[in-house]
Amino acid sequence: MRIPAQACAQMLDAHPDAHWLIDEMGVLTHANRAALRLMGSPAGDILGVHIDHLVADGPEHCAAVLRQGRRSTVPTPARLRLRTSGGDELPCRCEIALLSPAAEGVPSQLWCRLLPQRLGNSQFEVLNHQIAALRLEVGRRQAAESEMRQQREWLQAVLLGIAEGVVATDLDGCVLLMNPAAADLTGWTLAQSLRRPINALVRLTDESDLDTAEDPVGCILRGSGSGRDQRRLRLVARDGTEHLVQASASALLDEGGQLCGAVLVLRSIDEEVRAELKRRALEHQLRQAQKMEAIGTLAGGVAHDFNNVIGSVIANAALARMELPTDHTAQQPLLQIHRAGDRARALVRQILAFSRQDPQRRERHWLQPLVEEAVGLLRGTLPARVRLEVQCVVKPVHALVDAMQFQQVVMNLCTNAWHALSAGGGDVTVALDLEPACASQGPMARLRVTDDGCGMDEATRERIFEPFFTTKPTGEGTGLGLSVVHGIVAEHQGSLQAESSPGQGSTFTVRLPALVDDMQTTPDLVPPPSELALEESSSGGNERHVAYVDDDESMRNVIERLLRRKGYRVSSYESAELALAALELPATSWDVVVTDFNMPRTSGLDLARELRRLRPMLPVVITSGYVTDELQQGSEALGHTRLLNKEDCFECIGSLLAEVLGA
Ligand SMILES: Nc1ncnc2c1ncn2[C@@H]1O[C@H](COP(=O)(O)OP(=O)(O)OP(=O)(O)O)[C@@H](O)[C@H]1O
Ligand SMILES: [Mg+2]
Repeated sequence: MRIPAQACAQMLDAHPDAHWLIDEMGVLTHANRAALRLMGSPAGDILGVHIDHLVADGPEHCAAVLRQGRRSTVPTPARLRLRTSGGDELPCRCEIALLSPAAEGVPSQLWCRLLPQRLGNSQFEVLNHQIAALRLEVGRRQAAESEMRQQREWLQAVLLGIAEGVVATDLDGCVLLMNPAAADLTGWTLAQSLRRPINALVRLTDESDLDTAEDPVGCILRGSGSGRDQRRLRLVARDGTEHLVQASASALLDEGGQLCGAVLVLRSIDEEVRAELKRRALEHQLRQAQKMEAIGTLAGGVAHDFNNVIGSVIANAALARMELPTDHTAQQPLLQIHRAGDRARALVRQILAFSRQDPQRRERHWLQPLVEEAVGLLRGTLPARVRLEVQCVVKPVHALVDAMQFQQVVMNLCTNAWHALSAGGGDVTVALDLEPACASQGPMARLRVTDDGCGMDEATRERIFEPFFTTKPTGEGTGLGLSVVHGIVAEHQGSLQAESSPGQGSTFTVRLPALVDDMQTTPDLVPPPSELALEESSSGGNERHVAYVDDDESMRNVIERLLRRKGYRVSSYESAELALAALELPATSWDVVVTDFNMPRTSGLDLARELRRLRPMLPVVITSGYVTDELQQGSEALGHTRLLNKEDCFECIGSLLAEVLGA
């Protein structure tokens, strides 16, 4: 196609390089603006001039270049030395080609591009500008790349470090990224999860039932929900373990704001839930402890009065039985009254034993009564289908224990045994005996609690002493029972052992260092006789004089009558003041004083102190419905003073006076 010379000239004018158009004879027909600038000549001076005159290479060279140009429409390289208007020679590389062949009388036309080898100042400037711009661009890109790298590293560090699991997916829900926390939670590594559907790896179900929960990532990708509400869900890991998590999903958008994937954030709340359960368990324990404290206070408060009442009932029933012929029809009902009174007395004793509020105090204790008391208290709460049996060796077993804590051990083990029985009931046996000394240890008091309940598998057995470990439904067990037992046994330098297998029942064995040197010692308090036998003997008193001080009139009457039956002379006083006033009378001569502890104004202990001052050798017996530590220590400090439980008064006072008076 022939390009009109005019159009071609206009196009070349816009080009930054120098261009000539030359006819087939070698005459310059057009020089663009850059060419005019390069040669330094106006168009009028050079157009229509043969190029021989415009270059310094000579006619042969020019002719050769023109021939080369005419041969091809593809530009070929050549060299020319331009003559500038200033007379300088400017070496140029040039490209020359046939632009249009001769046709219809119009001569052929050549095109030549001139690229000077020595650059002019202005071109240097342009070039410098371009280089500077390039440098700026390179710098900007480097900065942007380094910022992106930093952001990537920062993101990487955040994803590695955060406790929340993060999983990112593409539009199809296939995993693109998974941080280590998510890998820990799900059990899948990043390598295993890449490009796999998130639903196959992150299985979320509802917290309470096992239905699959609405999938948060799916909601985002389908555009059917925000997925941001932090729902509590259950996450089933690869190995089947379950975690409670809070899950939220959000959309990933590309640069154009188009949805390109989703990101799922999983926060494990196992610890929070465990802490919450612990808190509730502790609250429950605290409430129980407060209830026990309240019962303790109440029991301590009423015990004295209650024991007076029971003592009086028992004593009067016993007296009436003594005064009636043995075949009298009233003997049987009186015996029933006596027995009921005895049961009430035992109950008060148990409540007092459990409500004792002393801090841990280890003393020598005869363990059998402690076991009996604890079991007796528990027995009242057991359903009839549970048989609870106690097997204690006859010989007393003593150990250095805190009585309340020891009984707590018995209670906790028995309660667990009871709970392990099936709904149909079963047997629980509590056994106490003495293990003789062996090479490795001294003699041990051994307490065994055995049940024929559900038993435990090994996994459970390994964890039972952990605080808060329980297999009971939430809210039913605190999981503290055995930890408390373990703690108490350890404090007592003992050992605790559990033997059990599923369906075979369990045996818990507690061993505590036994005290063998003092096995036969009489317990501190005079023990009540086990039988409801009546001390019929009317002798033994030998007319010795007993002063009996008690603000309770019925007790005064009963004890007076009883002691008189035993051959004592008795003077009764309703207060310590009256007794002390009588002591000052010259005719007064007492062999022993028996006084109630709890009296208005002056207590029995105060009276004993005063008597010790006035008559240092006069023996004193203090009776009390509730023997506190303070009373025990106070009486020990005085010397010549004995303590007697008020409710045992009737049965024991005869033998105690005989002992004190050396009869
Ligand atoms: N005699 C037993 N037979 C079978 N399992 C037992 C027995 N004793 C304890 N366990 C197991 O040990 C777990 C922990 O016992 P622990 O007494 O510490 O707490 P708990 O009984 O669950 O709760 P709490 O004592 O507050 O009622 C029990 O949940 C039970 O699984
Ligand atoms: Mg328990």
